[in-house]
Amino acid sequence: MSLAGKHILLGVTGGIAAYKAAILVRHLCNEGAEVQVVLTQGAAQFVTPVTLQALSGRPVRDDLWDQEAEAAMGHIELARWADLILVAPATAHFMANLAQGAAPDLLTTLCLASDAPVLLAPAMNQAMWRDAATQRNAATLAADGKRLIGPDDGEQACGDVGPGRMAEPEALLDAVRAAFQSPRLADLNVLVTAGPTREALDPVRFLSNHSSGKQGYAIAKAAADAGARVTLVSGPCGLPAPANVECIEVTSALDMHEAVQARAAEQALVIGVAAVADYRPAAKAPQKIKKERAAQNDASVALVENPDIIASVAALPNAPVVVGFAAETENALDNARRKRRRKGLDAIVVNDVSDPKIGFNSDHNAATLIWADGEVELAYQGKEALAASLIQHLANLFFPSSGEGAGALAKPTPLSVAQSGRS
Ligand code: C5P
Repeated sequence: MSLAGKHILLGVTGGIAAYKAAILVRHLCNEGAEVQVVLTQGAAQFVTPVTLQALSGRPVRDDLWDQEAEAAMGHIELARWADLILVAPATAHFMANLAQGAAPDLLTTLCLASDAPVLLAPAMNQAMWRDAATQRNAATLAADGKRLIGPDDGEQACGDVGPGRMAEPEALLDAVRAAFQSPRLADLNVLVTAGPTREALDPVRFLSNHSSGKQGYAIAKAAADAGARVTLVSGPCGLPAPANVECIEVTSALDMHEAVQARAAEQALVIGVAAVADYRPAAKAPQKIKKERAAQNDASVALVENPDIIASVAALPNAPVVVGFAAETENALDNARRKRRRKGLDAIVVNDVSDPKIGFNSDHNAATLIWADGEVELAYQGKEALAASLIQHLANLFFPSSGEGAGALAKPTPLSVAQSGRS
């Protein structure tokens, strides 16, 4: 009964995933929550108010102009009643209205009028989700402090395959529970490295690797969601910086080393997710290397070793807690245990990148977290979910008292660039 007495306003908008709202209401009520369902006109085409009323035990609201319902509890009163608003499914149309602050119906009006945190579970056709306008709206909503859960990737009701499936009701229930938990890393500084590095051979060529940056960005987001002040030092991967995260873009391992060293002393936790090139060309040719010149030189490239970024943080006096990643293709656990000790890390997260289901560029991952006197498996799941679970484990292991007493659920404040000096 972790949601006992909590007032959840469940908004349902008009997509086929609306049928899953019934299961969601059931889960929320089973956890002890009081659930007020608000349907849009579109949603009422997919699910009937009667079903949701029967499951929630409360009359469903669907009209801003319903005088009787307004007399019982006006929409402003309802907005104040909510401890949390979850919109599942959230259609592209609904997200567009919310991103613009438009309030053409009851649900959008409630979202605008409420101080409660708003969680959104986008669900739509994959092309609609990928559309530039939807992506822009999703980014605006995230920057405004709304929390987006999903969408998942996979088969769609329309027969397409791709991103746009609503996150499953169980995952949404987890997100609601998490929203009521204390921010576990409140006020701690956390630095995450992510993405590949590029080691220049000449002005147009470089050595690099397949790192997508997805796992590192998800970890930076999860740490920010847990209340930390997060700095993300990222190699080139073209991903948008998560909301409320200061992103420092670097290119080479030396750049990344410098950026991390400059900020290491003020961190409580450093998580190295970047796939840092171990070696760089001994010299960067000032001009593009000609084919003929490369042949004269046996086409070979002399390499020199890069500094080990996280090992050098771990070796600092008063070092922060340092966590590394190990992408292994054989003897994963043994190699990772040795790597943790060799680099002086507090913990290491190991995954087997030879598994195509979880390799580079995948949206999923499975891993084992290893520390000095324990190990825990992080089961196969989406990279965002794995990141959230990893952050919870790290908070329990290394910052057990952080965030205690900070249990009140606050509407996340959007962090404006001007206010924070962050980008
Ligand atoms: O030794 P290996 O590259 O497998 O170690 C991986 C871990 O070490 C990752 O956490 C990675 O970010 C970090 N690393 C680093 N600097 C390097 C090489 C790896 O911080 N030069």
